This record gives sequence, structure tokens and C-alpha cells, in this order.
Amino acid sequence: MTLSQHGKQSTLTERSFCATWPKATYRTSVPHGLPASFPEDKHTPGMQRALAVSDELIAELLSADEILIGTPMYNFTVPANLKAWIDLIVRPRVTHSGPPERKGLVTGKTCKIIIASGGIYDEGLPASASDYESGYLKRILAFIGITTAAVSFGSTTVEELVAQFRPAVLAATR
Ligand SMILES: Cc1cc2nc3c(=O)[nH]c(=O)nc-3n(C[C@H](O)[C@H](O)[C@H](O)COP(=O)(O)O)c2cc1C
Repeated sequence: MTLSQHGKQSTLTERSFCATWPKATYRTSVPHGLPASFPEDKHTPGMQRALAVSDELIAELLSADEILIGTPMYNFTVPANLKAWIDLIVRPRVTHSGPPERKGLVTGKTCKIIIASGGIYDEGLPASASDYESGYLKRILAFIGITTAAVSFGSTTVEELVAQFRPAVLAATR
């Protein structure tokens, strides 16, 4: 989708893992360190498929200037489909240098994350100790060189939103 604002055009690429996600090509089918440690002529069809999906997702990531991740919290952490994406985009010598430097190679981008959850995990609340999602996402993205500019929890309910905005809306209509 092409977006236009103040004469500037941007392209929005949406990748949704709601209906389909790369489970069949899960990263565990790819020996760690491919392709350097494993010659191409030894790749099984499963590995070739996994690498093709990994290449596609990495190309999409590299082409983005800004990244927005919208995700639910499942059992205090990332859902399995988002984890499958992570396992496919974190690749030695492709998105990070590997040892010894372990330097992120996906530079020059910023990322914002919105986490939807049933509970409220904002910093400072006792429940925030159970948030194994925001810190993990920030860490793994930093590992491949992506800076997380902001994390917000979208835990506000519609009722809470209405209560919050109702006085201002009523005041504006007077
Ligand atoms: C398998 C599963 C695990 C969940 N685990 C948590 C959790 O640990 N903490 C939480 O606050 N909400 C949890 N939820 C609620 C989801 O975060 C919530 O359903 C999600 O944000 C989507 O909102 P919706 O159900 O209103 O569409 C879980 C939901 C499911 C289906």
C-alpha cells in the first residue's frame, strides 16, 4: 500500500501471521550457522524451503525504514507465530555477524512495538515482573541491530477508553 503525506510517499508492507505462519519452515530445520558451515549441495528440501522463507522475510525486513510490531501477549511472552518469524530472521552472517563480535547487521532502522494483553503490565506495576515479552523483543531486535524506539501496552479496554475520553468529548459538544 502506498501512503502519501506532505507530498512524501511511503510504502506500507504488512506481514500478518494471524492466519498463516511459517511453522512448516520453522528455523529448527536449518542447522545453525547455515550456509557457511553446511554446503548447499547437502541441503535437504526442508532446509531449502526454510532458507527460502528466511531469505524472503529478511529481504522484507531490510527494505523497511520503520518497523511496527503489533502482537498479543501469550502466557507472558511472544506468541509462537511471532517467535517463528524471529527464528527465521535472526541468522548468523546475514542479520548478525556471529561470534566473536556478535554485531547486529540490520542497522539504520527503528522499531515500535504494541503489545495487546488481557492484563496490565506497564512499568512500575507489580505485574510488570511477569512481562517476558517487551524486554525479550527489545533484546532480540537489538541483537540484529534494530533499535526499539517505543513499547506500548494496548491493554486499555474500550470501557476504559470511553471513560477516559467521555468528559472531553462532552465538553467539546457543549
Ligand atoms: C493462549 C493465550 C495466552 C494468553 N496469555 C496472556 C497473558 O499471559 N497475559 C495477558 O495479559 N493476556 C494473555 N492472553 C490474552 C491475550 O493477550 C489477548 O487475548 C490478546 O491481547 C488479544 O486480545 P483479544 O482477545 O481481546 O482480541 C492470552 C490469550 C491467549 C489466547
